[in-house]
Amino acid sequence: MTQPTDIQRDGVRPLLLDLFSCAGGAAMGYARAGFRVHGCDIAHRPNYPFPHHQGDALTHLTHLITTGEIRRYAFVHASPPCQDKCALTVGTNRSQGWGRAHVDLVAPTRKLLDATGLPYVIEQPNGRAEIRKDLTLCGEMFGLGVIRHRNFEVSGWTIEQPAHRPHRGRVRGYRHGRFYDGPYVAAYGNGGGKPSVPELQAAMGIDWTDVREELTEAIPPAYTEWIDAAYLATAALGVAA
Ligand SMILES: C[S@@+](CC[C@H](N)C(=O)[O-])C[C@H]1O[C@@H](n2cnc3c(N)ncnc32)[C@H](O)[C@@H]1O
Repeated sequence: MTQPTDIQRDGVRPLLLDLFSCAGGAAMGYARAGFRVHGCDIAHRPNYPFPHHQGDALTHLTHLITTGEIRRYAFVHASPPCQDKCALTVGTNRSQGWGRAHVDLVAPTRKLLDATGLPYVIEQPNGRAEIRKDLTLCGEMFGLGVIRHRNFEVSGWTIEQPAHRPHRGRVRGYRHGRFYDGPYVAAYGNGGGKPSVPELQAAMGIDWTDVREELTEAIPPAYTEWIDAAYLATAALGVAA
């Protein structure tokens, strides 16, 4: 039988910092698995269901590190946006940003995360910024109505890659003028056979926001609930990276 971790033993649920938190798809999974969650997003996100700070994630993390407040946290999750969606931030150069040269939020985020000394996860979709693919999750692994492959770089702990499950069919929608039906909906964009907001909510397992942009940015909570359960099991066994 596994023993409770230090952070669980006193009965207080551990605190997780959720950077680039949007409306909290990732956050909800961590909360379901046992973390208290604090978010940070540069945009106003009134649908985020937990306490959160509106501001630049790198500035916020730098502040937490320099003041020592980071010690309140047990774990950090970061979902830096792709370059065409990211807000200019500390260390970026306006003359090179916004669809011109690459705006890399992953590298400076990773550098600060390493400085925290905390276990962390950085999430990215395929084909975006370079991260180590320690884990790739797919909606079919959780019986969801989206495929939504997402990669995770894991640091300060280790995680096993579960087997990928064959997709049950196609993603519903038009491609090259032809309509394809299928068991999955496309959780991006609009039109062209794309799902309605209620379809998207059901497919992703998210019911606390009906903002399409927030739904299409989110990680299904099932992913981070699974990651969190794996982390807590690893921590309980005293396994470190
Ligand atoms: C891919 S979404 C994150 C999705 C989230 N993990 C979820 O599961 O719902 C990226 C978010 O980063 C935010 N963002 C962009 N630049 C930022 C910055 N410099 N600091 C903080 N947040 C930022 C965007 O507003 C957006 O909500």
